[in-house]
Amino acid sequence: MNSIYKQKILILDFGSQYTQLIARRVRETKVYCEIHPFNMDIEKIKAFSPKGVILSGGPSSIYDEDAPMAEQGVLDLGVPVLGICYGMQFLIHTLGGVVARAVDREYGNATIIIENNKDLFHGFGIGTEETVWMSHGDRIDRVPEGFEVLAGSKNSPVSAMVDPARRHFGVQFHPEVAHTPEGTKILRNFLFRVCHCEPSWTMTSFVRRTIQNLRETVGDGRVICGLSGGVDSSVTAVLLHRAIGSKLSCILVDNGLLRKGEAAEVMEIFRGYMGMDLHLVDASQHFLDHLKDVTDPEKKRKIIGREFITIFEKKAEELGKAKFLAQGTLYPDVIESVSFKGPDATIKSHHNVGGLPKVMKLELIEPLRELFKDEVREVGIELDLPKELVMRQPFPGPGLAVRILGELTDERLEILRSADVIVEEEIKKAGLYEKVWQSFAVLLPVKTVGVMGDERTYENVIAVRVVDSLDAMTADWSRVPYEVLGAISNRIINSVNGVNRVVYDISSKPPSTIEWE
Ligand code: XMP
Repeated sequence: MNSIYKQKILILDFGSQYTQLIARRVRETKVYCEIHPFNMDIEKIKAFSPKGVILSGGPSSIYDEDAPMAEQGVLDLGVPVLGICYGMQFLIHTLGGVVARAVDREYGNATIIIENNKDLFHGFGIGTEETVWMSHGDRIDRVPEGFEVLAGSKNSPVSAMVDPARRHFGVQFHPEVAHTPEGTKILRNFLFRVCHCEPSWTMTSFVRRTIQNLRETVGDGRVICGLSGGVDSSVTAVLLHRAIGSKLSCILVDNGLLRKGEAAEVMEIFRGYMGMDLHLVDASQHFLDHLKDVTDPEKKRKIIGREFITIFEKKAEELGKAKFLAQGTLYPDVIESVSFKGPDATIKSHHNVGGLPKVMKLELIEPLRELFKDEVREVGIELDLPKELVMRQPFPGPGLAVRILGELTDERLEILRSADVIVEEEIKKAGLYEKVWQSFAVLLPVKTVGVMGDERTYENVIAVRVVDSLDAMTADWSRVPYEVLGAISNRIINSVNGVNRVVYDISSKPPSTIEWE
């Protein structure tokens, strides 16, 4: 196995909303890690051979009847263990300490005082106060035998602990969240001082290794790849192009639901890759015909998914026999996390080419399935993809169809496209495009009364949606400055024919979703 994978940290997920964040923080230090369910089989854990184990937090109490428990053997591997919040309580409960039910949940900022600055708190001063983020219901009454207290707070005398002999650590707070300002330092201490990891997980080494693997896997076969112009499929295509050159064919299906000028722009960028076998299929009319009079969101999605397969398959057949299909699946799509309804439910059903392999009997190639979005962007930069493309915000597979509520017509597509360009331009001008998760326009299926000059108007409403998010599982509406919202509204109403009102969406996810359909 390649050296960059020798240094692995295992994160066992007890269901915390922050588990992915732990993984991202670890990877940011250039150490490779994977998230697995809390009950991962001990033999599998041994085969994984981690340099250290992190037990995540979770919503349960250790006293709950169905409290999640990891296999006890995970504490006997001889490698360091860091239990975070519920993970710490699991350690205490399993090793003979006492966790007591607290009357009130401790939630929010808290101050801890460092009592011991070895290992985990290396570089911190003894007796200094640190702000940390707490979110737990139970308190620790007695640490197990062999453990020492590292830090305490007013509400919980044991906020951090260690068993120096076995190198087992527990923290009651969340070092992975931004609300714990020195949290990264604590995690780094665990990874580098305690586990003795080396920072060898870099995107340069990832690219080198992946290209080599792709060459071996593909051999004499041929690969087809659906290009959408989004970051994931673009990086997938370019990685493959580097690896196997002319054995790759890329297909861009213009479903007529892309943003203004998008298909041409993507073709232009990829023509720059010498010798890439690139095919644009203009199927806009085909999709519009099939979507005529369809207003139900799920029906729209189904039709788009189905017709995409039809068009893609036809083109692939024309191109001749391929053995593999490349997809830009990312790590968050494959994590068997317990955070969201168990293993299988986490795999996103709305991946836009998800149905293809079954129909086409192709083997799947997913070179990005170990990466988070920000890592994919780094790979894109490494591969010299243009920055504008690499930093593109996510765009849904069914495209503008899920942002036009009600009927899809040429005229309504034109209205939305024009408004969408304005949102993008103004958000970019304000320096927000890369700070927010997504920013876009939605065309509503209602008309409202307005007045232009002396005339009464009765026209469309555009909703502007801008959200902040880490992984799209949860999101909050962005507090975009009023001036920016004002500029967007003025420009849309003044220059987009058929719109006389703009509203701002102030809903968070959950209970709303990011897209409107
Ligand atoms: P929701 O609307 O579920 O969206 O909060 C979460 C994220 O997923 C994107 N999205 C999609 N992406 N195909 C995709 O490839 C889809 O059908 C799809 N629907 C939503 C959405 O833009 C957001 O980033």
